[in-house]
Amino acid sequence: RKIIHLPEVDSTNEYAKLIALDEREGTVVVADRQTAGKGRKGRTWASPEGGLWMSVILKPKAEPKHLPTLVFIGALAVVDTLWKFGIEAGIKWPNDVWVNGRKICGVLTEGRIREFVILGIGLNVNNEVPEELRKIATSMREFLGREVSLSEAFHTLIRNLDHWYGLFLDRRYGEIISALKERSIVLGKEVKIIDDETELVGRAVDIDVDGALILETPKGRVRVLHGDVSLRF
Ligand code: BTN
Repeated sequence: RKIIHLPEVDSTNEYAKLIALDEREGTVVVADRQTAGKGRKGRTWASPEGGLWMSVILKPKAEPKHLPTLVFIGALAVVDTLWKFGIEAGIKWPNDVWVNGRKICGVLTEGRIREFVILGIGLNVNNEVPEELRKIATSMREFLGREVSLSEAFHTLIRNLDHWYGLFLDRRYGEIISALKERSIVLGKEVKIIDDETELVGRAVDIDVDGALILETPKGRVRVLHGDVSLRF
């Protein structure tokens, strides 16, 4: 497999998008640091040295309606990687990985329909978490109280990605969603969904086959396809 390792880049997702049409499926772009790391919804993603900042180029021949499932592949692979290091992590639907009530990883998928999908993963490993984020973010080093081998974390993550992406290619979407539900930290909880201007409060009761979060609200059941979930309100 081809791994493109850069000391520095604006964003591994941006770089991967530029080369995606010329590269094979599975090519990985990984950088020691990003100068303009991107989060969801136009947010920035702090990416100093010591963290794992990577993007995988995927070219799945799946129907477009299944593509949102790819974000779960990233989160599942990260959770399994963290467990391997003894870190009990869970998935905060749709694309965050949390440990002890704080975020340790975010996943950002971008792409062009029928051409490629870029699966971007940012995992706090040994990097410093910026002061202003310490209450809401953590790292593997902070949890374990020691440095972790970045290359071991990287290779474990790649193996886990191959496993979950293999299920995706075999169209075993049901198994992906059940794994997601098992590792979910939002199911059974009262949550607030914030999506642009709208807010919705309810109890998260299920994740359906399409990956939508099912909320029980005073007005009945609602299917939520995207948005930020807040557990603290
Ligand atoms: C989020 O939680 O908002 C998603 C964060 C995704 C960050 C990763 S780091 C590697 C890849 N390159 C980027 O610019 N972003 C993703």
